[in-house]
Amino acid sequence: MHIGIIGAGNVGGTLARRLAAAGHEIAIANASGPQKMQDLMGDLGHRAHAVPPSEAARFGDVVIVAVPFGRYNELPTAEFKGKTVMDTGNYTPERDGNIPELDEDRTTSSEMVQQHLRGAHVVKAFNTLHAEDMRDHARQSSAQERYGIPMSGDDPQAKRAVADLVEELGFQPVDAGDLATGGRKQQPGGVTYDADFTADELVEALRLDS
Ligand SMILES: NC(=O)c1ccc[n+]([C@@H]2O[C@H](COP(=O)([O-])OP(=O)(O)OC[C@H]3O[C@@H](n4cnc5c(N)ncnc54)[C@H](OP(=O)(O)O)[C@@H]3O)[C@@H](O)[C@H]2O)c1
Repeated sequence: MHIGIIGAGNVGGTLARRLAAAGHEIAIANASGPQKMQDLMGDLGHRAHAVPPSEAARFGDVVIVAVPFGRYNELPTAEFKGKTVMDTGNYTPERDGNIPELDEDRTTSSEMVQQHLRGAHVVKAFNTLHAEDMRDHARQSSAQERYGIPMSGDDPQAKRAVADLVEELGFQPVDAGDLATGGRKQQPGGVTYDADFTADELVEALRLDS
């Protein structure tokens, strides 16, 4: 599959390594240009290309957004039209500055990303796990032993595409609901955030929280 990745730090770099190793074609972008991605590109091999953000969005069948949340509105918009977007971001006021809509729980960070990327189909996923766990805790064996990865989104087809990637990476996708409901359960302070649940435990935690 063609995968665009915007953000080449802890999360973007980790997912890029895993997805390139699984045989996907990667176009990856950062903010400051290819120089800073040299080591990463060496690890990724010939299936990966360092590109500007607009090109990563254009290239991807799925586009992973892994920039610090507070910079989401720097993302280009036209190239995202019709794309499935996996949003890994978390609102962190110390880093992102205070955003009243979020501080007052009037919306969620992924709904803000969705609003900016009008015409794309945003699915929040892989935001609840540390990047090192994305690297180290994949299991290809039994679904019961796998970490559950909550996913929220408003478009069923986009969710299925992200679920396939989650599964391919050795985790168990668990539908947490739409961006508003599930997004709240996935954000910092939510029931699934940083919880290291198996899929069964995650389903139960989501049920108890509804
Ligand atoms: N770290 C974790 O374990 C973890 C786990 C789950 C979710 N998250 C969330 O995932 C998001 C990414 O976190 P991270 O730890 O991977 O961040 P990070 O290590 O600081 O990396 C951020 C990346 O985004 C790039 N970037 C920033 N603004 C950009 C823009 N406008 N266009 C293109 N690229 C841009 C940066 O490029 P430059 O290097 O060129 O500045 C850098 O490559 C955050 O919202 C975070 O809260 C983090």
